[in-house]
Amino acid sequence: MVRSSSCFLPFVNIFLFSQLHLEVQCTSFSTLLQVSYSPTVLERRFALRTLRNLGLGKRGLEHRVQEEAHYLVAFFASMKGKPLDPSFPLVHSVSNVICAVVFGHRFSREDETFHELIRKLCGTTCVSLPQLYEIFPWLMCRLPGPHKKALSCYEVLSSFTRREIRMHTERGMPDEPQDFIDFYLAHIEKMSLPRSVFYIKINNNMVYSINDLFLGGSETTSTTLIWGLLYMVANPDVQEKVQRELDAVLSPSQLICYEDRKELPYTNAVVHEIQRFSNIISVGMPRVCVRNTTLLGFPLKKGTIVLPNIASSLYDPEQWETPRQFNPGHFLDKDGNFVSQEAFLPFSVGHRVCLGEHLARTELFIFFASLLRAFTFRLPEGVTKISTEPILGGTLQPHPYRLCAIPR
Ligand code: HEM
Repeated sequence: MVRSSSCFLPFVNIFLFSQLHLEVQCTSFSTLLQVSYSPTVLERRFALRTLRNLGLGKRGLEHRVQEEAHYLVAFFASMKGKPLDPSFPLVHSVSNVICAVVFGHRFSREDETFHELIRKLCGTTCVSLPQLYEIFPWLMCRLPGPHKKALSCYEVLSSFTRREIRMHTERGMPDEPQDFIDFYLAHIEKMSLPRSVFYIKINNNMVYSINDLFLGGSETTSTTLIWGLLYMVANPDVQEKVQRELDAVLSPSQLICYEDRKELPYTNAVVHEIQRFSNIISVGMPRVCVRNTTLLGFPLKKGTIVLPNIASSLYDPEQWETPRQFNPGHFLDKDGNFVSQEAFLPFSVGHRVCLGEHLARTELFIFFASLLRAFTFRLPEGVTKISTEPILGGTLQPHPYRLCAIPR
């Protein structure tokens, strides 16, 4: 698919397009196939350029991650080793990084509106197999189920985003754009659109682009971290080895940078293994064949929908020594050096590879290393059983659990 990527175009966001973005009735499958992909490509180019301008892949954004890691460690410390569900604080911190990029500011733990948004955000991803809704919206929009809840959650996110855009337009444009909204407003203004089109653009494309970044950037990274802490509780020997390496390389108050991973091969291997083993997006977004083609020797007709099976590479028995076991050794050579693996594709591959890959990698490393340097994670007294089986949803989620963060 990667080699002949021009044959497979994204069959993406169609459900959201039809249900939310374009607010049109989804009456037939063929209507959906006619949705042009080119605006999406343009939006993607614009988003990527803007995210780069905002420091994605540069030190600028790393500073935001370090700041959030600091608040997260302080929050866990305030619990004084009492049992807690780590998911809410993790989603809060990760979402705040995206908020800084998109809205230009973070939200405090006391901000009730933001709390509400985070709660709703968790609700938008409770949909099982969203790919089904992408492919069969005409059916799904007629059926009851959790996707209905997801739609109402999406509306809350949209109105939150609209409020932030309104605040930006009221404030006026700064000399230098500071965040994604500033860049987007400047971009629209440069196009010198008639006022009516300008407002439609703001109200539709801009809100949905921001929502995509927010949804894509919050839930994925935080779910991976929630799995990460669970694996540490389940594998105390691995946790101890990470802590020994962190203690040997970093001083207790040193700011942790993404670059530090080069000095921390075991920690880096553990972060990669968390992503491989948790396999949170086991099925990628649908693609559609735009002409007759062949894939792995199978003939495919124009219009065929293809789902990339990401799990097939992350669990490939020919690529991994113990694919169904949590084993950081998958990313280490015999001398303990970190080794990259070609089959490690949690961000997918090709034209539509995850737009936030670099940010996600930076976040995972800095949040994980900061937490393990500060705490040892254990099960609460009396709890002996934990499940590492996933719940099938928008992403593969762990069952809710509680742990104790014991200060080191
Ligand atoms: C552990 C964290 C993450 C994982 C595992 C992940 C994984 C993925 C995957 C598998 C895709 C689909 C690619 C495809 O269809 O081929 C994707 C798309 C996307 N991701 Fe991520 N992602 C993560 C974090 C992020 C972050 C932090 C952001 C925000 C900056 C982000 C923004 C996006 C966007 C906007 C898309 C859609 C790209 C497009 O349609 O062209 N992701 N991601």
